Amino acid sequence: MTFSKVSSSRGFRVCFPKVTTPYISKRNISRSPRIMSQNVYRTNTGCPIFNPMASARVGKSGPILLQDFHLIDVFQHFDRERIPERVVHAKGSGAHGVFECTKDITKYTKHAMFSEVGKKTPMLARFSTVGGERGTPDSARDPRGFALKFYTEDGIFDMVGNNTPTFFIRDPAKFPLFIHTQKRNPQTDMKDATMFWDYLSQNEESIHQVMILFSDLGGTPYGYRTKGLTDEEAKALDGSNPDHARKDLFDSIERGDYPSWTLYVQTMTPEEAEKFRYNIFDLTKVWPHKDVPMQEVGRFTLNQNPQNFFAEIEQAAFSPSHMVPGIEISADPVLQVRTFSYPDTHRHRLGANFEQIPVNSPKCPVFNYSRDGPMNVTDNQGSMPNYPSSLQPLAKEYHEPNEKHEKWVGEVTYHMDEITDIDFEQPRAFWLNVLGKKPGQQDNFVKNVAGHLSGALPEIRERQYKVFGRVHHNLGERIREATEKVAKETAENVSPPMNKAEPHMFQSN
Ligand code: HEM
Repeated sequence: MTFSKVSSSRGFRVCFPKVTTPYISKRNISRSPRIMSQNVYRTNTGCPIFNPMASARVGKSGPILLQDFHLIDVFQHFDRERIPERVVHAKGSGAHGVFECTKDITKYTKHAMFSEVGKKTPMLARFSTVGGERGTPDSARDPRGFALKFYTEDGIFDMVGNNTPTFFIRDPAKFPLFIHTQKRNPQTDMKDATMFWDYLSQNEESIHQVMILFSDLGGTPYGYRTKGLTDEEAKALDGSNPDHARKDLFDSIERGDYPSWTLYVQTMTPEEAEKFRYNIFDLTKVWPHKDVPMQEVGRFTLNQNPQNFFAEIEQAAFSPSHMVPGIEISADPVLQVRTFSYPDTHRHRLGANFEQIPVNSPKCPVFNYSRDGPMNVTDNQGSMPNYPSSLQPLAKEYHEPNEKHEKWVGEVTYHMDEITDIDFEQPRAFWLNVLGKKPGQQDNFVKNVAGHLSGALPEIRERQYKVFGRVHHNLGERIREATEKVAKETAENVSPPMNKAEPHMFQSN
């Protein structure tokens, strides 16, 4: 496997890993659909075919012939065109670009991307919605995924984040359960407001993220930009242009109006972390900017659309565990689970050798002792020993983990999710100091919640009013009043209840 520079039809250059089999390297990767005279139609094994639109048949009314390999081959490939969509973040769009380090942070990290100011690293970005399927509208009220892949000389570094500073859960055990409630009802296969709010009202640590999600500031962004949409604008786009964010990104890059984002970090010393008011690994809280200032460290610019969406975006496999020297996995429990969950789902979605797919391949040469597996398309590390050989040893880089940060004393606990008044401080500040300071935003928030919550069963609505009441004394009342008004006005305001649970019956013969 080598890494090669590929020029696009627009003349931008991006470092894109490429498998050097004759099959791929001879392909024309230009985006323009020009037909070149040497582009002869062939089977995937290279045999020229005189007419791809015809089947071989006996006479004018006889049967199709089994010997028509081309026909059968095309169908067999067609029948296998779909791969599983991502279990979450299924709808997404992306592009290639470049990251540039703008501030010296070598005192914090030896990370290759930050080795010097001005250092440029090729990268890929994929933006997504979380809950819906591959065809879901881009304007859905949902957090936006923000996955970045950097091709550093020390290997692939992925940052897999969202556009919101908090999350719904802090105990990772809840993730699959929470996600189920945001997807479809197992009986009706429809989105279900009762399920949605049933979960949230029972798991009050979600309230901070719920507040952000139902505000115009965070829940329905305009494309992948920072501007927000109102509920009405988002719903109009659902119908008129469900791919509006994808189109905005693609068109902007095509016309040379390259979008760029600035990367900031927040840092704390271990001593500051111990004294901090909140558990620094509690994903339902922010690190307030006034206490922990944002520090600009770089900027990335997307300047090249994919030549082929499936190859370069659908097959992109991001994981927070794809790390390089200079950054390590923290003790954030959600991150800890994610480190295993992403590569696991990649092996299910893309196969055991997903790292060999060009968009996922590191730029540096790879030697290790893993071998074989389905769809191994490299030279499989040739004749190199597949064990630590004394005759042909692999050189090791010296990256000893810092043991100072790895001393743990504690007892096993299952009580990560005890809810206390502290959990409502930041949502209250968001209600008063963020929404309260922008004209009309509190009213819009109440309206946005009422429109959705009114679809849930009355007892679920009642429980969620209490959660909002804990945020601020009159918020619960305002939400109750607005929601009950919409519920009354809507004829079909109750989703079909789920069947009562019946134990599964298995018959044994
Ligand atoms: C226990 C918690 C979580 C688990 C188990 C989890 C698991 C997953 C899985 C299985 C995927 C699909 C990956 C694929 O098929 O390629 C995914 C995608 C994603 N997740 Fe998570 N996730 C969790 C929490 C989070 C959080 C807190 C964030 C953001 C801060 C996040 C951001 C993303 C993004 C952006 C993607 C899409 C990546 C892409 O564009 O391919 N996830 N997650």
